[in-house]
Amino acid sequence: MKNKAIVPGTFDPLTTGHLDVVERAAAIFDEVTVAVAVSPEKNGHGTLFNVQERLELISTATQHLENVSAKSFDNLLVAFARDQGTTVLVKGLRAITDFEHEFQMAALNWKMASQVETLFIMASPENMYLSSSAVKEIAGHGGSVKGLVPTCVEEALARKCP
Ligand code: PNS
Repeated sequence: MKNKAIVPGTFDPLTTGHLDVVERAAAIFDEVTVAVAVSPEKNGHGTLFNVQERLELISTATQHLENVSAKSFDNLLVAFARDQGTTVLVKGLRAITDFEHEFQMAALNWKMASQVETLFIMASPENMYLSSSAVKEIAGHGGSVKGLVPTCVEEALARKCP
């Protein structure tokens, strides 16, 4: 039986930090599905990239990982995990700030589906400060996001924020 895991998130857009977590999960599990949340209510704002764009960017950035695929979901994460035949969620954790929110989500997911385990991969030190929001803010003001995101995302941001 294959060991499968899901790396869930909004990925608006995928950063180098996300990619690091996906690569490290892909080295541990037989199959990794990057699960892209379709309509997150992120502070009431929509996403910069629509779900198709986010999926395509993830597929391009993970081309070198043959056991990784990207899928979108619009339901509860635990229901999506069940449909994918896995009980393992892998998330990246940056410093202290992520902990409370991640702890709450992991606990609620566990309450809804006690067979679901959330595993955390510590962000590597060079990615500790990185977030999709910061990347969008920098790109939106014309700054360089080189090294903060995969090349395909850098190009897509340049098209969105000329
Ligand atoms: O990248 P993010 O924004 O931290 O990802 C958050 C995400 C998409 C993993 C989370 O919002 C989620 O799981 N949404 C799906 C709906 C759901 O299951 N909500 C209950 C979690 S407590």
